[in-house]
Amino acid sequence: MAAEMALVKPISKFSNTTPKFGTRRIGSYSKFSTIRMSTTTPTPPAASTSTKPSKKGKTAIKETLLTPRFYTTDFDEMEMLFNTEINKNLNQDEFVALLQEFKTDYNQTHFVRNKEFKEAADKIDGPLRQIFVEFLERSCTAEFSGFLLYKELGRRLKKTNPVVAEIFSLMSRDEARHAGFLNKGLSDFNLALDLGFLTKARKYTFFKPKFIFYATYLSEKIGYWRYITIYRHLKENPEYQCYPIFKYFENWCQDENRHGDFFSALMKAQPQFLNDWKAKLWARFFCLSVYVTMYLNDCQRTAFYEGIGLDTKEFDMHVIIETNRTTARIFPAVLDVENPEFKRKLDRMVEINEKLLAVGESDDIPVVKNLKRIPLVAALVSELLAAYLMPPIESGSVDLAEFEPQLVY
Ligand SMILES: [Fe+2]
Ligand SMILES: [Fe+2]
Repeated sequence: MAAEMALVKPISKFSNTTPKFGTRRIGSYSKFSTIRMSTTTPTPPAASTSTKPSKKGKTAIKETLLTPRFYTTDFDEMEMLFNTEINKNLNQDEFVALLQEFKTDYNQTHFVRNKEFKEAADKIDGPLRQIFVEFLERSCTAEFSGFLLYKELGRRLKKTNPVVAEIFSLMSRDEARHAGFLNKGLSDFNLALDLGFLTKARKYTFFKPKFIFYATYLSEKIGYWRYITIYRHLKENPEYQCYPIFKYFENWCQDENRHGDFFSALMKAQPQFLNDWKAKLWARFFCLSVYVTMYLNDCQRTAFYEGIGLDTKEFDMHVIIETNRTTARIFPAVLDVENPEFKRKLDRMVEINEKLLAVGESDDIPVVKNLKRIPLVAALVSELLAAYLMPPIESGSVDLAEFEPQLVY
């Protein structure tokens, strides 16, 4: 996993309450909504401005509704879906071929660091340093989220479908590598994400398997497009190559692409998730959630994208359009993101979100803040709804005819 899969809930920073709908807590853990980061050496002031020092010498950053989430699912239902006795649509040959590809492990020796990292990090200062740390931290959390989910799926499906299970385990290997590499990047800034603590302390969002497929597929593909776009841009404009991690993105994004293709194969094996009107509505919903989350998140962090020479909105629209074109190959419906009205709606959401953030940061008492938020949240919801209801594009290339009732003349 590469992209942040946080689904849109209106909206970040003004609240750290977690919506009850669709979420499930796992295990017992602290009620504090913080990501703990442990400092490996004293934290330089520039890198700690968004973090709160905690009592034990650790630092904590505030979790918002747009921070990357951890996911869990109904593993019993997953076992049923991948049981070859029950599901005759499972194309085991295709999965065996995919497994071979994962076993080849193209990136086994790719993630090797050198002294350029630390030297480059030391040269990044001022606001860009802070925003770099946040980028590494969020990316690491998103990758680690994929690692946890795939690892558990690998474990739970071992008996029912060893081939699919092994692919999940090998994908968790990739995600662990990605998360580890990003965490080492944080060490260049004298920080480290406390991944053990994160595993226990984060809230896990529960999605039924069908929704895990949609969300994870999109997350992998949007991750691919983000990484490859940054890589290509920096290759053409090396003067913005301020930290060497971006040089690794070309091979790295191929991992994400393979992960996405695996989910595509999984969905083809579950045609009931792709071939009815409900699937079309959900497909559009997940596209909208993932695109809006990314757009709002990135527009809050323009300093990062500008720091590497990108125009944030142009970059995001490119990623959204490419991801949507890729997604249209498998999802039964996608959004018409190339319609200029879609971008206009996204931009209005950014403006509303900025106002919401300003309310959150104001000195008003909580009641006044909440009153001020009501019309803004209503405006945001109405923009989201309007974007969702724009005429969609019918898509999908899966031949589902054989699964539909045959017409008899
Ligand atoms: Fe990844
Ligand atoms: Fe991935």
